[in-house]
Amino acid sequence: MAKDKLLYTCNQCGAQAPKWAGQCGDCGAWNSLEETLVSGASPRTARFADYAPAVVQSMQDVAAGAEVRQSSGLAELDRVLGGGVVEGSVILIGGDPGIGKSTLLLQCMAALSARQPVLYVTGEESVQQVSMRAQRLGLSVAALRLLTETQVERIIVCAERERPRVLVIDSIQTVYTEALQSAPGAVAQVRESAAQLVRYAKHTGTALFLVGHVTKEGTLAGPRVLEHMVDTVLYFEGDGASSYRVIRAVKNRFGAVNEIGMFAMTEKGLREVSNPSAIFLSRHAEPVPGSVIMVTREGSRPLLVEVQVLVDESHASNPRRVTLGLDQNRLAMLLAVLHRHGGVAMYDQDVFVNVVGGVRVTETGADLAVVLAALSSLRSRPLPRDLVVFGELGLAGEVRPVQSGEARLREAVKHGFKQAIIPAANVPKGGLKGMEIHAVQRLSEALDVLRG
Ligand code: TYD
Ligand code: MG
Repeated sequence: MAKDKLLYTCNQCGAQAPKWAGQCGDCGAWNSLEETLVSGASPRTARFADYAPAVVQSMQDVAAGAEVRQSSGLAELDRVLGGGVVEGSVILIGGDPGIGKSTLLLQCMAALSARQPVLYVTGEESVQQVSMRAQRLGLSVAALRLLTETQVERIIVCAERERPRVLVIDSIQTVYTEALQSAPGAVAQVRESAAQLVRYAKHTGTALFLVGHVTKEGTLAGPRVLEHMVDTVLYFEGDGASSYRVIRAVKNRFGAVNEIGMFAMTEKGLREVSNPSAIFLSRHAEPVPGSVIMVTREGSRPLLVEVQVLVDESHASNPRRVTLGLDQNRLAMLLAVLHRHGGVAMYDQDVFVNVVGGVRVTETGADLAVVLAALSSLRSRPLPRDLVVFGELGLAGEVRPVQSGEARLREAVKHGFKQAIIPAANVPKGGLKGMEIHAVQRLSEALDVLRG
């Protein structure tokens, strides 16, 4: 058998060199040469006869059995995965250090290990640390198998002996392969070790969880290179100040993307938050000007959030347009639409927009809410407390429908809202019990509703 060879490949142009150099000889890029492993059998020497004939099948002959799913023990994680952990699937969980990836997986594995063999490979913490954490969290992990090892070949040998149905690697950045000389955590190491583990998982039908740290510069050096190799990519997000954590699917071969799961970090580990709307709604004792409740959507789930706008007389030659949780250019556009189609000018006003609770709204459904909140602040006139608003605004002053209007309205009814200003095309047939719906087609109509 031909031996594997070490080469250096430029990550800009793909040129290969036998030796490392600071600059790629071909394209001139600096610091772009990476160690790569090239399998020894070169295609030029291999004859056709050497290949085992691959089997070509008709689509109708392929038995498409339903994929086998298992509950992870955490309903919020299940929903992000598309209904549970799929046998033989590879799941990458990325996130900042200390966000709670290990905690999440330990809780999940405690539930899974009750039903099947689970192997937890930890390269960062000692076995004692992991078991102490499990004890503190009050998890029953008697059946969970632990291994501290960072060399991928030895991990796979161990796994072959243990035959787990679920394998966890915490984290992929600590794992290295003997075949490469670069340090663990280097891009080439991460890629090669992950490739070996993925091959093992697919071959044996083991569900594989890979933990990946996101680097501080936000480049995701490690995890990013793995995204195409795995079936599912989950990102664990949340800011340090708040205890809320969001887990988001950015790629999923077994479910919908952009689905989110919500958790709160407590002293007893991660707790599921099944009713997120309740968190992001700040209820004021009295109605306040500049505040509007809107219904946005995160994944398949409607979420009530409060949009606050403060409009204040500006003394600068360039009035300020500041947004938190919303796109700043969008605000400039909305103010222009409000001027041209609503007759309200704010060129001499500073405008500040904030979405309460640190939520980021990336969809256009917030447009109408922002405009109405700005107007309410400018006029110092509060909107009714039981009002919700959503809808996209076009440059021609038209109000456009958004996705899943009815689901949004139902969420609002559930939380006791009684009136809604929404795009005409989003009104459910036959209306909705307990909700007075103001259907609008143009911005001017929405302003008329508020004038009463
Ligand atoms: P961890 O799961 O170790 O993070 P990661 O694996 O993503 O690096 O989470 C560690 C953080 O979570 C740490 O800052 C403390 C906090 N934490 C709690 O607040 N409560 C708990 O019960 C646990 C286990 C951790
Ligand atoms: Mg960890």
